[in-house]
Amino acid sequence: MEEFSCKTKLICGSGAIARLADFRAQKLFLVADPYFVKNGTAKRVAEASGCAQVEVFDKIQPDPTVELAAEGTAKLREFDPDLVAALGGGSTLDCAKAMAYFAKGSYTLVAIPTTSGSGSEVTDFAILTHNKVKHPLVDPWLRPDAAILDSDLLSELPKGLIAETGFDVLTHALEAYVAKGAGAVTDLLAREAFSSAYAALPASYAGNREVRLKVHLAATMAGMAFTQAGLGICHAMAHSLGGAFHVPHGRLNAILLPAVVSCNAHVAGKKYAEIARGAGMGGSADTIALRNLKNGLIRLRRELNLPETLAQAGVDPRAVWRSVNSIVDAALADPCCKSNPMEPEGFLVRRILEEVTGRV
Ligand SMILES: NC(=O)c1ccc[n+]([C@@H]2O[C@H](COP(=O)([O-])OP(=O)(O)OC[C@H]3O[C@@H](n4cnc5c(N)ncnc54)[C@H](O)[C@@H]3O)[C@@H](O)[C@H]2O)c1
Ligand SMILES: [Fe+2]
Repeated sequence: MEEFSCKTKLICGSGAIARLADFRAQKLFLVADPYFVKNGTAKRVAEASGCAQVEVFDKIQPDPTVELAAEGTAKLREFDPDLVAALGGGSTLDCAKAMAYFAKGSYTLVAIPTTSGSGSEVTDFAILTHNKVKHPLVDPWLRPDAAILDSDLLSELPKGLIAETGFDVLTHALEAYVAKGAGAVTDLLAREAFSSAYAALPASYAGNREVRLKVHLAATMAGMAFTQAGLGICHAMAHSLGGAFHVPHGRLNAILLPAVVSCNAHVAGKKYAEIARGAGMGGSADTIALRNLKNGLIRLRRELNLPETLAQAGVDPRAVWRSVNSIVDAALADPCCKSNPMEPEGFLVRRILEEVTGRV
């Protein structure tokens, strides 16, 4: 049985932030990435809301901590707004979602993503870091009421961020497509997100701004798919390694994903082949389509100048093997493991680590 719901209203296109006025709010609490406070975008968003009172919380850092969310929660409670808006990438969105969740007020929560990656604008997840471990909060209450997908916010995206967050989208779509919770509706979203992002990423990376809304929508579609279907071992390991070594989330997914495809292939080969054909990678036999998928991901990773190993991402492989037990334990304890197409065990996580640290 498949159940699908998306409570998040989507407002998409150039200039969409003007639609913040639709919420007719009086008091806006704006959680903003400091980058957008400095370049004046936060001010434009505050003006667009039409609110008489505005408070800006701009202490966001990549991979927000529990302590930061607690500090923001106290500020949010004290200000007591009727509208909470989050302006930034997945880190800002997650922190704002967690703050609204813990503050337990009755606000409208609007997510305005500025990266095309996390999908957090439509998901039931918020990922916070505590003691170097990333903890996904999972609750339907975390899903924002609305998401404003404004392509104008993407014009200054640095190349590295396009590449990293783009690979996050591909990983969300691919993991959701083979996840235990996948169904007809999530498959439709995941397939479209994967092929659209796979086709548009090279042009976006090369500087073509016209295709950026396409990738932005793909990120949201992939978010809608994975919040229902679940993710898998790639995300479980990216969370575990990300907490320990502070490598950006999308870069870790890019390193891990081809190795994960090989490990899951014996149970998910047919679906991997389907999604590869849908993205135009060809291969009439499943084994060929599967090989094309893995090669296609590796080729795209190279084209986007993303690292192939943890060492290339600045992580000393010896440091990984020194703390291998805690990395494996954290990955296996991550909720994303539950929806991987087969039950991951310690030896499998180690096998993937061997591939991405260059031991094999
Ligand atoms: N909640 C979810 O469903 C979910 C899903 C996947 C990932 N995540 C989380 O999201 C986080 C990653 O988010 P992210 O990849 O969007 O990056 P991010 O929010 O961590 O931002 C990375 C950097 O990009 C900068 N930046 C953001 N938008 C920009 C723009 N338009 N132009 C220039 N610079 C910009 C930020 O200032 C920051 O320095 C991780 O913590 C990950 O765990 C959450
Ligand atoms: Fe992700």
